[in-house]
Amino acid sequence: MSHTPLIFSGNSNPALAEEIAKRLKVHVGKSLVSKFKNEETRVEIGENVRGSEVFVVQSICKSPNGNGVNDALMELLLMIDALRRASAARITAVIPYYGYAKQDKKTKGREPISAKVVANLLKVTGAKRLVTMDLHAAQIQGFYDTPVDNLLAMPTLCDYLKREGLKGNEIVVVSPDAGGVHRAELFAKRLESTLAIVFKRRPEPDVSEVTDIVGDVQGKIAVVVDDMISTGGTLAKAAEAIKARGATKVYTVASHGIFAGDAVNVLEKSVIEKIIITNTIPFGDIKTHPKFVQLSIAQTFADAISRITTNRSVSELFNGDETVTNEPSPALETVTV
Ligand code: R5P
Repeated sequence: MSHTPLIFSGNSNPALAEEIAKRLKVHVGKSLVSKFKNEETRVEIGENVRGSEVFVVQSICKSPNGNGVNDALMELLLMIDALRRASAARITAVIPYYGYAKQDKKTKGREPISAKVVANLLKVTGAKRLVTMDLHAAQIQGFYDTPVDNLLAMPTLCDYLKREGLKGNEIVVVSPDAGGVHRAELFAKRLESTLAIVFKRRPEPDVSEVTDIVGDVQGKIAVVVDDMISTGGTLAKAAEAIKARGATKVYTVASHGIFAGDAVNVLEKSVIEKIIITNTIPFGDIKTHPKFVQLSIAQTFADAISRITTNRSVSELFNGDETVTNEPSPALETVTV
């Protein structure tokens, strides 16, 4: 098998695929990923992949061309199927944002485990491994019997915070819910800051309410750390509560900026100084939104792909950084997130 990776992309995050390919000094492979008039996804791979090491970069999110989350998933599956039938030697699904991850277990009767369904589909179509970033719950890796590399955005996010002077004693890192305490602890350690925890409840899906804050935020600059921003409600409400407790400023960081519905507006009107996210999901015209900062994680993916292709360690990239999970610490499992 050739040591030169072939990169292909669907429509959900072509800019990131281009950037990863550029850093690997290869081009994005030719392919047609569109729709038939009847709305069914149409895929055609435009170059020879026989015997090649192939990576398909596709976040499971809305596409800049207006296609929905389900289209992104279908594009990914059909591309993998086409590549397998075209005799690619090994196909890796590179899913910077792994959608359908929130339903990773049954919380009540008659619910699906959507994250497992995605894993089943990828296996059946022929993906031999998964490369992703900050899975909502690290144990989703267990839905696969093939290798999963769950990369971390934390080094990129922390480097930015440090460059902005957001480190040390004047900072308090805040988890916006019990599920994110472990992640916040790792950020606090890296930024040499203290830790606080917001407790939230969800009276209904996509609605959040702050119930309490544990830890001292008085007179400090708070950095709230989350894995994803969907409606923006969790961060906007957490920031309000943290400021009401005496924090001077509130910044937020998250790996995945989904920004569903009115989220950008909600966050723009919030008390948050800056919303820092990565480009696992495309943002659109960020220049028109001065409160938002988008950091590129292309190098992390390029490094991981390069290491996979040459059978070198991927975990070495993170120098002992622990896996980040959104699962509640057992002692804190008091709220539904
Ligand atoms: C919850 O478990 C997640 O870590 C996020 O806090 C949540 O998904 C954010 O959702 P929203 O922006 O809709 O409040």
